[in-house]
Amino acid sequence: MPDGFLFFLKALFLQTDNSMINLKLAIQKTGRLSDHSKKLLEDCGIKISNGANVLRTVAGNFPVEILFLRDDDIPQYVEQQVADIGIIGENMVLEKNKDVAILDQLGFANCRLSLAIPKEEHYPGPEYFNNKKVATSYPRLLSEYLKKNNLKTEIEEISGSVEIAPGIGLADAVCDIVSSGSTLLTNGLREVETILTSQAVIISNKNLNEEKKSILDKFLFRVRAVRNARENKYILLNAPEEAIPKICEILPGMKSPTVLPLAIKGWCSLHSVVREDDFWERIDRLKNAGAEGILVIPIEKMIM
Ligand code: PRP
Ligand code: ZN
Repeated sequence: MPDGFLFFLKALFLQTDNSMINLKLAIQKTGRLSDHSKKLLEDCGIKISNGANVLRTVAGNFPVEILFLRDDDIPQYVEQQVADIGIIGENMVLEKNKDVAILDQLGFANCRLSLAIPKEEHYPGPEYFNNKKVATSYPRLLSEYLKKNNLKTEIEEISGSVEIAPGIGLADAVCDIVSSGSTLLTNGLREVETILTSQAVIISNKNLNEEKKSILDKFLFRVRAVRNARENKYILLNAPEEAIPKICEILPGMKSPTVLPLAIKGWCSLHSVVREDDFWERIDRLKNAGAEGILVIPIEKMIM
């Protein structure tokens, strides 16, 4: 970005009300991460209002100030402490290589950085890229990959709409973020190598003062409770008493499952928590072990 504009943004974000300490959190203004980032804040009970052209806002009920920025700029702003922390894709953190700490993975905005070629091209392996030109917004990560694979490839650095580069004759191939894959598909491109996989993370400036660190701890506590809740389900089921030991093996729970007697003699109700990832597989095993009336319920917050 031009220096003048950077200076303008810095001036804007640095003039804060000194009477109150707020943790400054940068999130993406628009794009793949922005809706999820706002949803995360909402699930953390942090209320923000943002109009279409708002660049910063202070939360109503938590000492945090939100800065809405281009994701590409967030690592730099966090390094310079224009923002204290940021929510951003790991891909961007690694590409920008700024001196910031990665605190937590957030489990959304999953994607990969991949090489893709025109779909009709024969692909013999990475040597395909020798003496070719690849368009990308990720020159650092791409050149690391090329070096590791001993490839002589020209990098054409562009800041956006990378996917159209082969179609307009700017490059032979692209190295870009793939999420659903629909951008590649609609541009007649085929993914042939994955350079890295990525998800949203929280990054932090490394020199936060004690006051900011203590707000950050409270924020991370909430984020982790939301994340644990999203990754787990509460499960209730009925089973005959004799099936309980077998079912307890299948449901490790937070510590051990809660077992309550039912009005019908010889029957119990079991309550536990299962990971979202493997609950389908466990539910089949539970049915086979004699479980009936299985209910799976979302968890609002989960404090470990
Ligand atoms: C990436 C990439 C594609 C799109 C791919 O952009 O450049 O445009 O996402 O997603 P798909 O596989 O689901 O179609 P990104 O969201 O990182 O935005 P930016 O580069 O414009 O910041
Ligand atoms: Zn971007």
